[in-house]
Amino acid sequence: MSKVKDPSLAPQGRLQIEWAAKQMPVVSALREEFAKTKPFKGLVIGGAIHVTKETANLILALRDGGAEVAWAACNPLSTQDDVAAALAEEENVHIYAWKGLTNEDYYKNMDKVLEHKPVITMDDGGDLVFRLHEKHRELIPSIKFGTEETTTGVVRLRNMAADKKLGYPVISINDAITKQDFDNIYGTAQGTFDAIMRATSVLIAGRTVVVAGFGHCGKGVALRARGMNANVIVTEVSPVNALRAVMEGFRVMPMKEAAKVGDIFVTATGVKDILTNEHFELLKDGVILSNVGHFNLEIRTDQLQEASTSKRTIRSGTEEYTLKSGKKVFLLGEGRLANLACAEGHPSAVMDLSFANQLLSIKYYLDKKLEPGVYSIPKGQDDEVARRKLQSMGCTVDALTKSQEDYITSWSEGT
Ligand code: ADE
Repeated sequence: MSKVKDPSLAPQGRLQIEWAAKQMPVVSALREEFAKTKPFKGLVIGGAIHVTKETANLILALRDGGAEVAWAACNPLSTQDDVAAALAEEENVHIYAWKGLTNEDYYKNMDKVLEHKPVITMDDGGDLVFRLHEKHRELIPSIKFGTEETTTGVVRLRNMAADKKLGYPVISINDAITKQDFDNIYGTAQGTFDAIMRATSVLIAGRTVVVAGFGHCGKGVALRARGMNANVIVTEVSPVNALRAVMEGFRVMPMKEAAKVGDIFVTATGVKDILTNEHFELLKDGVILSNVGHFNLEIRTDQLQEASTSKRTIRSGTEEYTLKSGKKVFLLGEGRLANLACAEGHPSAVMDLSFANQLLSIKYYLDKKLEPGVYSIPKGQDDEVARRKLQSMGCTVDALTKSQEDYITSWSEGT
């Protein structure tokens, strides 16, 4: 049972999944291991993570490990339809996803996933968990735990837990260093510029790129923009993050000032209302606006619409808004995660780390009894994931000698 856009795309989707698998040696090795040991035998797993060629490899590792997997998208524009079609042909996999979902279908597809009665949920952004708590509360007692992939989702779940509204335990995959320091930084950076270039083909060198937010994602984007010879401005609300940006050599200023000088804007804050009608008329003619934060709340597209006299699609993923002053503003991917809406998301090699963390965390927590709340990945897992990745890259590292180990676990040796 599946619902996808075009089942005839399956052969192309299978090639994409195979291509990604080659770049995902850690997940591929876990898939082989789990196919033998079947740690997920008999479990129904319900997920809502972008339906991409990378997620397909995660789903197939779960399935080969013995699970029955039901899956939906976590963003209306991020599904790769060929990949969804290929997954729909797989045994014990049910896919409810296509690119260009209405809001109504987006949630209907999550309902379909939940009708499979999962005992583990895997979420990216918190919409599946939220929907389960809102409309399918009867499932809560039988859920073992969930996992959450991203910063925005973890923030949301911690708020739910603080309000005593979270009904079951959830593991924050985003807490993994081998997720945050790689997926968020290098993945977002590469995917963002891939999206900007596919959607617009503009030259980055010499442009002023304004990056809103200097968390892991914003930092990656700012560093990559500099690497492409842009002039980079950072906007922030956190004094610590702002100081980090200053010490990296970036100019930091409020958005109302940056709005007047930027050529390309990238929002990566996880907060809403970053570019609003307070900013649109300040913008220069011809600027490009893009968002890589999880939800489409960072650029107020409703206010952009109101501030405009007309709108037209210029290229796939690029809409031109004509402001009342006559200035043009180009919005990428409808203000949704541009890296997934206009490109293919993070590269497979970095999703390898994030999804290895998903697989190992699920395996570890299977037999643990947990109260509702948000939990970190198991201790030692970061080292294991990094070790496996390094090994796949043919990279070996030094080991502590006995005397070094004694030294760092003692306190008596000094000057
Ligand atoms: N999030 C960001 N990039 C992704 C990808 N390629 N697959 C799944 N989730 C993602």
